[in-house]
Amino acid sequence: MEKTIAVIRGDGIGPEIVNEAVNILDIIANLYGHTFHYVDVEMGGCAYDKYGDALPQEMLEKCLNSDSVLLGAVGGSKWNDLPAAKRPEKSLLKLRASMNVFSNNRPAKIWPQLASASPLKPEIVEKGIDFIIVRELTGGIYFGEHKTETVNGEKVSVDNMRYSESEIERIGRIGFETARKRNKKLCSVEKSNVLDCSQLWKAVMHRLAAEYPDVELSDMLVDNCAMQIVKNPAQFDVIVTENMFGDILSDEASMITGSIGMIPSSSLGSTSRGLYEPIHGSAPDIAGKNIANPIGTILSAAMMLRYSFDLAEEAACIENAVSAVLNQGYRTADIMDADGKLTGCKEMGSLIAKHLTKG
Ligand code: IPM
Ligand code: MG
Repeated sequence: MEKTIAVIRGDGIGPEIVNEAVNILDIIANLYGHTFHYVDVEMGGCAYDKYGDALPQEMLEKCLNSDSVLLGAVGGSKWNDLPAAKRPEKSLLKLRASMNVFSNNRPAKIWPQLASASPLKPEIVEKGIDFIIVRELTGGIYFGEHKTETVNGEKVSVDNMRYSESEIERIGRIGFETARKRNKKLCSVEKSNVLDCSQLWKAVMHRLAAEYPDVELSDMLVDNCAMQIVKNPAQFDVIVTENMFGDILSDEASMITGSIGMIPSSSLGSTSRGLYEPIHGSAPDIAGKNIANPIGTILSAAMMLRYSFDLAEEAACIENAVSAVLNQGYRTADIMDADGKLTGCKEMGSLIAKHLTKG
């Protein structure tokens, strides 16, 4: 198979974690006889510094012309004072919208080897943590009108949340279909006791439920969901929710599995071209120190192989290698425990690379 992958290293720890993931992809290509062409894309604060634009049009086009996109992270305190429209985070939103990847899939699964890294009590962890958050990614308050104006001598800001039925329906279907492939339980999370958008959300989910009689649909208010994720995470199979709720809940869900550094994500639209990124940010405080955890990015590359290129065996090969290295006790600082062998970013990447064997 021959594929072109746009690679966005970005800011902070982005370059170091992406380098490890690309190395893994190269070994996979060798093992299984594939050819991956990488196209470097400059995006984020680094692109702003160089071009005055965090996502120049030619860089965006490189992504749109590729078979898939692998992203490290963008942003950092250095660019915090830029006007909202120029910030690196905006470039990420622009990329998601331009690629039309409306469905963001964020697994929260505990690796048995890392159970002790979970901040939850063992009796809660023992019941199992294995669910997926399907987050709507190209609508809602992230993409509504944002404005700040002076009214009666004081500043007033407005961020507009907007959802159409069709936007809700297409993400709802992904939720039902994801549940169908798992334990057939879908929890739709909203704030219908306050928001119109959420009432519409709930109504659309219930309309769709008639088409998926094999899936058990439940509703949960987002504040209760935040509580249930720490109280009884074993109850969840698939959560489907709007953009901002999904942003917040997925950070919470990642933490109960041990570390946000472990969690990959896929963002897909109606084609096989996806955007794959770890869910953590650019962590500028630890950038360049070789202590970041590259596993979230490496697992994102595995998701790319599975979901965009239909290479399930190759994806499993990567996941098994990660598991083998964790079994041997190697840990980056974020998942370090009393018996762990402290391992740097580069070393973790090399160890995983060494364990890649064709099954
Ligand atoms: C994420 C991040 C982004 C988001 C930021 C960097 C814009 O937090 O991918 O979860 O809010 O979507
Ligand atoms: Mg987030």
